[in-house]
Amino acid sequence: MKKIALYPGTFDPITNGHSDLIQRAAKLFDKVIVAIAANPNKKPFFPLEQRVELAQRVLRGHKNVVVKGFDVLLVEFARREKANVILRGLRAVSDFEYEFQLATMNRRLAPKIETMFLTPAEQYAYISSSLVREIAALDGDVTPFVHPNVKAALRQRFR
Ligand code: COA
Repeated sequence: MKKIALYPGTFDPITNGHSDLIQRAAKLFDKVIVAIAANPNKKPFFPLEQRVELAQRVLRGHKNVVVKGFDVLLVEFARREKANVILRGLRAVSDFEYEFQLATMNRRLAPKIETMFLTPAEQYAYISSSLVREIAALDGDVTPFVHPNVKAALRQRFR
């Protein structure tokens, strides 16, 4: 059986922390699906199509990684994509409570799909998409935190 991991998130925008995690996962699984949630509740800064396009550009070159947008229940999307694992990142203890709740609810909804966690490299432990957006909005340098294409997209939006 192929090991297929679904890595869901809002990716608003994708950061080097996300990419680090995806590269680690790509070594462990046959296929990694980066699943970008429409997530209207979070009122995303970039529209879904642009978040998908940016992630595709950033992850180009990773043969077993694909990027897809979704606007249905996460476990439903995982079933459709035949994923056996939902992958999430744990950056700090503060992430744990929400992740535990999400993993437990997803198991209740789809008992056959396991949630697994990876930790990003320590230099990315403090990055979040909203911090990156805030730094860019105030004309700070986001070079260490995002791919050049993402930096350009942020610059264009805040121009
Ligand atoms: N590097 C950098 N940042 C990271 C990171 C990493 N490795 N891992 C997480 N983050 C950051 C994100 O940038 C984001 O930062 P922000 O809040 O400042 O924007 C934050 O951590 C959390 O984001 P993310 O991991 O993208 O999760 P989310 O909470 O935005 O999305 C979903 C959660 C998409 C998985 C969830 O909403 C979902 O499953 N939606 C589908 C609908 C559904 O099924 N709902 C019921 C679930 S039981």
